[in-house]
Amino acid sequence: MSANAGGAFRLAVEADGLAILTFDCPGEKANKYDTPVMTELEAVLDGLAKRNDVKALLLVSGKPDIFIAGADVNEIAKAAGPEVIANGVRRGQEIFGKLASLPFPTVAAIEGACVGGGCETILAMDWRLASDSKKTQIGLPEIKLGILPAWGGTTRLPRVVGLTAALDVILAGKVIDSKRAQRMGLVDQLVPAPILLDAAKKFARGKFGTKKRSNAAPDGGPLRVAPAKAMDKLLEGVGRSVVFRKARASVMKETHGNYPAPLEALAAVEKGFGRPLAEALNLEVEAISRLVGTPAMKSLVNLFFRMEEVKKETGVSAGVAALPVKRIGVLGAGAMGGGIAQLASDKGWPVRMKDIRHEALAAGYAQAAKIWQEKVKKRRMTRTELAAKMSLLSGGLSWDGFDGCDVTIEAVLEKLAVKQAVLKEWEAVALPGAIFASNTSTLPITEIAKAASRPERVVGMHFFNPVHKMPLVEVIFGEKTAPEVTATIFELAKKMGKTPVVVKDAPGFLVNRILAPYLGEGVRLLLEGVPMERIDQGMRAFGMPVGPIELLDDVGIDVAAKGAETLSAAWPERMPIDPAFGKLVTSGRLGRKTKKGFYRYEGDKRVGPDPQAYADLGVASPGSSSISPEALEARLIYPMINEAAYCLAEGIVAGPDKLDLAMIFGIGFPPFRGGLCAHADARGGAAVADALSRLASEKGPRFKPAPLLAEMAKQGRPFFGKE
Ligand SMILES: NC(=O)c1ccc[n+]([C@@H]2O[C@H](COP(=O)([O-])OP(=O)(O)OC[C@H]3O[C@@H](n4cnc5c(N)ncnc54)[C@H](O)[C@@H]3O)[C@@H](O)[C@H]2O)c1
Repeated sequence: MSANAGGAFRLAVEADGLAILTFDCPGEKANKYDTPVMTELEAVLDGLAKRNDVKALLLVSGKPDIFIAGADVNEIAKAAGPEVIANGVRRGQEIFGKLASLPFPTVAAIEGACVGGGCETILAMDWRLASDSKKTQIGLPEIKLGILPAWGGTTRLPRVVGLTAALDVILAGKVIDSKRAQRMGLVDQLVPAPILLDAAKKFARGKFGTKKRSNAAPDGGPLRVAPAKAMDKLLEGVGRSVVFRKARASVMKETHGNYPAPLEALAAVEKGFGRPLAEALNLEVEAISRLVGTPAMKSLVNLFFRMEEVKKETGVSAGVAALPVKRIGVLGAGAMGGGIAQLASDKGWPVRMKDIRHEALAAGYAQAAKIWQEKVKKRRMTRTELAAKMSLLSGGLSWDGFDGCDVTIEAVLEKLAVKQAVLKEWEAVALPGAIFASNTSTLPITEIAKAASRPERVVGMHFFNPVHKMPLVEVIFGEKTAPEVTATIFELAKKMGKTPVVVKDAPGFLVNRILAPYLGEGVRLLLEGVPMERIDQGMRAFGMPVGPIELLDDVGIDVAAKGAETLSAAWPERMPIDPAFGKLVTSGRLGRKTKKGFYRYEGDKRVGPDPQAYADLGVASPGSSSISPEALEARLIYPMINEAAYCLAEGIVAGPDKLDLAMIFGIGFPPFRGGLCAHADARGGAAVADALSRLASEKGPRFKPAPLLAEMAKQGRPFFGKE
């Protein structure tokens, strides 16, 4: 027996020659690779390589939820220059090379998250056993940080699971559950979590004296786990160029070339596949050296840190704790209520829904079931799990069951009087300490709370549509909302898997308010004769997930018009309503939901601009006007920056970092640009303010630079000050 006291690794060699290496970073929740840990691992591996009493190595984690979380992102972020990165990456590759070359079989027993460098560790081992627990998630998310897996992941994964499956994981930065990993051939065996260690020991003992797989292929790399299927053989042989061409086309379609990392990863796989291991690894080094330090990588790493911060935050000042939430009520089983009920029960809460119509309740159940059925179809969930989740959902037309709900989320009609009436009824049945969280998109929380006898229990919990996909929740505190109520909703949103941002109560809150000029100016450009598809394509090329006209169709033109009314009432000069909205709504042109909007629809598919929409709007010669990408950005994005400056000056959100997080997660503002404020800094405050001033003189006072922006431009001060 031996042990490495005080370090991240404990080694115990049993009498029969089974070495068990436990990775357990002291004082940390997760096992991470930083320089000292890598140095220690190397020493352990060097020691093991020299021993002749060891017959197999079993790698386990000392953490309950995490096997290995990968490389320390702080170190990547701080690395100064491509040389430093190249050296650090080469060292990691060498150490994993030592793991792959140990003179006896190596086995990983994976329980919990095994991502990035964690996944690259197991790829350098001979055998991989994983627990069947949901916690066990394996993958290579490096692309999401603007880099590529360069400790051998880009090279070894295609060799272990085949080209198409590997590209699917690497290019999308996917993390998959252990069942899928087994189907893919990344994991050899699935084991019930409670017996993983015993099973892995037995398995490793069964491999005593057997051949290695981690570096047994002719190129020096690992052997493929499952034999290639006929189709794979074809695609990896004569069809290889087709695979890469298709993959490149799909990356370009997704990213418009704005993200260099997937293209670099694709090139590294393409050039490295079939070449000797050492050459392929070198391609990884070259690629990552080009990526580290790019603006896209910096923005994505920054976003990662911001998300990590939210995990530690409470949404309120220190000393205020969130209350426990055991049961959740949902009022209104419509598009949003149904989605919220599905999300809450998906995460394990018993949920009680209430509506005023049976059909709405039925639709709410159906909406939830549809989302889960999709998962069953994709084998992400079993039928038994679906049934268990459905059984957490109940509903009715009465208030039965709401007396037991700690939090009730209201998603009824967007009418103040209706919401206030519902709030009063709820108060009559709810526990005194229970919370009423409104999902209103536009109505002030303080106004809604005026109907309450306990306004301190009323708060905003603003989800985005569709609820199961959109990651942001705005947590809105009204004038009287108690801090513990805000803290509870902040925590609840996190437990639901969302990213919450605390927002002060004001018309449109944060995201919809900043979005309004994007939509409004989009329509005005169209009225000026710029073709709608030109506007939308231009914004998608900028990096937005959808252009403003498409977005209006998706949101619903009537819904957008209502939102615009609220904002226009608050800021008539800056957010004037265009009569175009009214014309469209009265002609029944409500967007995708009526299959009739700015665009035409066939089934769910958007098939092209609807010429009749131009006619309904009275656009005399559609398409008569053109616009450059720069002018389009100034017209649509700069007014959003301007509104962001107003929001910051009014203290609507804590700072530009939270604002950027909200815009990325709420509307998909391009993450590679770092967010709205980060993008403003990249363009330069003065350039933005000048362009806005020019637009103000040409198009009207709505473009006038916000006092904060004008002042920043004058002083040369960015949103994010240099530290
Ligand atoms: N749709 C969106 O994109 C979106 C996004 C964020 C927030 N919201 C907000 O969410 C809320 C609901 O919007 P939606 O799109 O789900 O609307 P919806 O019309 O799809 O659903 C509203 C539901 O509330 C029910 N209802 C009406 N009065 C009720 C009452 N007194 N008690 C119980 N149920 C009642 C209706 O029968 C209907 O089923 C609104 O406040 C809206 O502003 C909507």
